Amino acid sequence: MTDSAELRKRFETARDEGLKIIGSADDLDALEEARVKIMGRKAPLSQARASLGKLPEEERRALGRLANEVYNALESAFESKRERFAGAATEQRWETERIDVTLPGLNLPAGAIHPLTKTIWQIVDVFIGLGYRVADGPEVEETRYLFDALNMPQHHPARSPLDTFFIEGGGDEVVVRTETSAVQIRTMESQDPPVYVVIPGRVYRRDAEDATHTSGFTQIEGLAVDEGITMADLKGTLEVFAQEIFGKGLEVRFRPSFFPFTEPSAEMDVQCFVCRGSGCRVCKGEGWIEVLGCGLVDPFLLEWVNYDPERYSGFAFGMGVERIAALANGVTDIRQFFTNDLRFLSQIGSRS
Ligand code: DAH
Repeated sequence: MTDSAELRKRFETARDEGLKIIGSADDLDALEEARVKIMGRKAPLSQARASLGKLPEEERRALGRLANEVYNALESAFESKRERFAGAATEQRWETERIDVTLPGLNLPAGAIHPLTKTIWQIVDVFIGLGYRVADGPEVEETRYLFDALNMPQHHPARSPLDTFFIEGGGDEVVVRTETSAVQIRTMESQDPPVYVVIPGRVYRRDAEDATHTSGFTQIEGLAVDEGITMADLKGTLEVFAQEIFGKGLEVRFRPSFFPFTEPSAEMDVQCFVCRGSGCRVCKGEGWIEVLGCGLVDPFLLEWVNYDPERYSGFAFGMGVERIAALANGVTDIRQFFTNDLRFLSQIGSRS
C-alpha cells in the first residue's frame, strides 16, 4: 500500500532537488547532464511517477496533476536556462568574430588587359563589325600549308632553317609557322566560299632580337573570297580598318609590293596619326606609317583548295600586332611586350 502523502512528498522533493541542480548547472553540458539526472528513467521523479499506478483512483488523479506540474516546472526551468546559455554563446561568438567595418580595406592591385590582347581585340572587332568571323590554325605547321600551298618558290628564304624553326623528327615537313597565312589555306580547305575571316595568331622567326624584332610575335591575317571581289573591295575595307584603328579622316596609300600568295600585292601606309603627314619622330619624318601587306589572292591558292578561280576571287592582308600596339601606345621597344614588367603593363595596360 503506497501512502499518498509520502508520494506527494517524493514529488515535491524531486521538484525542489531538481530545481536546485538546474540552478547550479553552469554551462550547456552541465545542464544536459542535470536533465538526465532529474528526468532520466532512473531518476527519483520517474520512479515516483511509476508508483502512481498503485494509488486508488481519487488520489491518483490528484497526484497525477501534481506530477504534471512538477514536470512542467522542471521543463521550463531547463528551457529558460538553456536559452540563457545559448544566448551567452552567441554573444561570445559576436565578441570573438567582431568585424570592424571602419578599418581601411586591403588595396589589392587589379590586373590589366595586356596591350597586345587589347590591340588584337580592337582590330578583330572592326572586322567582326564588317561581318567577318575569327578563324585559327596550328602554330606547328606542315610545310605544304605554309610554303607549297602559298606558292613559295623552292629557293624562298623562309624555307631555310636559317630563317625558320624546323621541328626535330619532322624532316623538312614540319615547322613552327612564320606567318599566319597558312590558315588562309586551312580555312578555304574546310569550307566553301564565301569566306570572310580574320586570323589572329602567334608566329616565329629565327630573327636576332632588337627593338623592332622578336623571335615570336603576333600577326592578324585577313581573307575575303567571294564572287566579284576586286582591288576596290580591298582598298575600301582596309581604309575603314585604318580609320577605325588610327583615327578618322586619316588617308591611306597603297604601294606596289610582292608576296608569293597575292597578285597584285601591295603594302598599305596610313597617314601618321601624330603629325598628319608633315613628318615627326613617330613616322621618322615620312608622314606615313607602314601598316600591313595585302593583295588579291593568287589564283594558284584558289586552285590548290579546289575553288573555281573563274568564279571566285579574293583579297588577303596580314599585319604585325606588336608594331601597331607599339605605335598606338608610344612604345619604342617591342621586347617590352614580352618581359612582363608590371610597371610597363600597368602603365599602358587597360582595364577593359
Ligand atoms: N604573311 C605576310 C608576312 O608575314 C603578310 C601578308 C602580306 C599577309 C600579304 C597577307 C598578304 O595575307 O596578302 O609578312
